[in-house]
Amino acid sequence: MKIAQITDLHIGLKDQDTYNVDVRDNFLQILGEVVFTEPDLVVVTGDLCFDVGHEEIYIWIKSKLDNIKIPYLVTPGNHDDTEMMKAVFEIDYSHGDDEIYFAKKLSKTTALFLDNSKAAHSDNQKKWIKRQLHQADKNIVVFTHYPPAKCKVAFMDKNHALEDRKEIQSLFHTYEKNIYLFCGHYHTEKIIHLDNLHIAITPSTYIQIDPDTEDFQVGSYQIGFRLIELSKNHCMSTVKYIDGKSLREA
Ligand SMILES: [Fe+2]
Repeated sequence: MKIAQITDLHIGLKDQDTYNVDVRDNFLQILGEVVFTEPDLVVVTGDLCFDVGHEEIYIWIKSKLDNIKIPYLVTPGNHDDTEMMKAVFEIDYSHGDDEIYFAKKLSKTTALFLDNSKAAHSDNQKKWIKRQLHQADKNIVVFTHYPPAKCKVAFMDKNHALEDRKEIQSLFHTYEKNIYLFCGHYHTEKIIHLDNLHIAITPSTYIQIDPDTEDFQVGSYQIGFRLIELSKNHCMSTVKYIDGKSLREA
């Protein structure tokens, strides 16, 4: 099974200043590349909106995702509004609370879609994750926004790391098989192996962050998405890049 992961779109309102990046065109360019790879599923792992959730932005993104005629799933990031997302994307498969988390079978692999958009997981969600791990017996995949670890991206580690990362790591380490976790949030490409937990950070369709500075600095205007191949007991992935578009060039 082939899955395309897109993350950190940061789409603004029509007249919003998105620091001279044509975020809508970037997303559409990436979507075109995604379609070209013919995935079975597209997963969008949060930060659909530029700074805060707007119904109009979700409606626009949904119309573009509907157009590609490939099944897709969305999870929220820290710049999203979960209630608005549930309403616009007609999400009825999530649990209660104001979070969007759910499990799906992808081919024969259990996939958990988590919500850490408030920089942490609720107690209910943590109990649910524990139950899901208890029921599973093979390698699993996880899609979420924040990586559950510090990742050597100085600005993000210092200011925007997941608050309950140690608890989540401990929980994942109780699982006897491998967990392949795909996330975004850090606006970079990285793979981190922590025992059975394999974290893959996927670059944004907006901008990438310079990993070496504690103050925010753009590292690159290249944009990308991750292509994941899931087979019986294996999970492999690669990132594909294209050049992003500046509004000054438009
Ligand atoms: Fe982001």
